[in-house]
Amino acid sequence: MKKSPTKPPVQQQNFAFEGCDLPPFRVPGASEAYETTFGAAYVGDSVALMRAIPTGSVDLVVTSPPYALHFKKSYGNVSKSEYVEWFKPFAAEVFRILSDAGSFVLNIGGSWNQGQPTRSLYQYKLLIALVEEINFFLAQECYWYNPAKMPVPAEWVTVRRVRVKDSVEHVWWLSKTPHPKASNLKVLKPYSPDMIRLNARGVRETVRPSGHVIRSSWDKMKAEGAIPSNVIEDECAPDDMLKFGNNAANDPYTMGCKEAGLTIHPARFPSALPEFFIKMLTDEGDVVIDPFAGSNTTGAVAERLRRRWLAFDLADEYIVASKFRFPEHFALNGK
Ligand SMILES: C[S@@+](CC[C@H](N)C(=O)[O-])C[C@H]1O[C@@H](n2cnc3c(N)ncnc32)[C@H](O)[C@@H]1O
Repeated sequence: MKKSPTKPPVQQQNFAFEGCDLPPFRVPGASEAYETTFGAAYVGDSVALMRAIPTGSVDLVVTSPPYALHFKKSYGNVSKSEYVEWFKPFAAEVFRILSDAGSFVLNIGGSWNQGQPTRSLYQYKLLIALVEEINFFLAQECYWYNPAKMPVPAEWVTVRRVRVKDSVEHVWWLSKTPHPKASNLKVLKPYSPDMIRLNARGVRETVRPSGHVIRSSWDKMKAEGAIPSNVIEDECAPDDMLKFGNNAANDPYTMGCKEAGLTIHPARFPSALPEFFIKMLTDEGDVVIDPFAGSNTTGAVAERLRRRWLAFDLADEYIVASKFRFPEHFALNGK
C-alpha cells in the first residue's frame, strides 16, 4: 500500500527579516496541500491559482513548464504548433503578479522536428511572444549545461551519427522592467587557479587583437570571487549532492518516494538552477513562486534560503511526493 508523508502542524507566524516583520504568503481562497515554515504547495491549475494572487506582490517566478516534446512525458506535453498560444495565459498572469523589480526565469528545453534531423524554433517563438506580446524584457538569455542528457533522437545521434548530443537547455531570464532587482555579487564563484596565478604575476597593459584594452588595474582581484557566466552548471561534488542535490539516488526525496511507492518526478531540474537565480534576484523574505513545480525543487531551495515560496502543480501525486523534500517537516507514515 502507498504511504503518504504525515503532516505535523506547522506553526504559522510572521517572519522577522532584517528588521521587518513579514506575514506568510498564501493564495487567497485556496487550500494548501501542505505548508512549511516559509511556504506552501497547492494542487491545481496554476493559471487559476495565480489569478487569485494580488498584482505586483511577487519577487521572482522560476519554473520549468512541460516542454513541447515529440516523445511526451507522463504528465503531458503540448504540441509545438500550439505551444505559444497555450503558454500565453500563464505568462500574462506571471507578468501581472510580479513586482516592477521582479523577474521571470523560464527553463525551456529544445525539441526536434518529427522525422527529420532538424530542430524546432518553438522556444524562440515563445521568447519573442513573451517580449513582444506580454511586454517582458529579456534581461539575459542563460543556459543550463546538462551533460547527463540522453543521446537522442537515437536515429540521428547514435544510429546514423549525423547529429551530436544535445546538452544545454535555454533559461530565459525575463523581467517586468529593464532594471529588475539583481546582484551578481551574490553568486560569485571561487577564482580559477589560472586567475589566481595571473593575479600573482600581474597583468601588463595591452590591447588584445579584438581591440579590448587590458588595463593593469584588472589584476587587482577583489576578495569576493569571480563573476559567473550565463551557463549554469550543477557543480556539486558528490558530497554536496547528498546535502543539496535533488537528483542524487539517495537524497531524501528519491529515498522517500521509493519507500512510499510514489512516482519519482521524471523531469526534475537540479537545485543549482533555481538556487542561482533565487540568490541573485531575491533577498531573504522575498516571495518566490514556481507555477509548474513538479517535485518542488524550487520550494525546497527557497525554504533553505529563507525566501517565502509557493508551489503549484496539477498532479496531486507529485505534490504529495514533494513533501519528502522537507524531512524536517514531514516523515513517512508509521516511521
Ligand atoms: C517539467 S515539470 C517541472 C519539474 C520541476 N522543475 C522539478 O524540479 O520537479 C512540469 C510540471 O508542470 C505540471 N503542469 C502541467 N500543466 C500544469 C498546469 N496547468 N498547472 C500546474 N502545473 C502544471 C506537470 O504536472 C509537471 O509536473
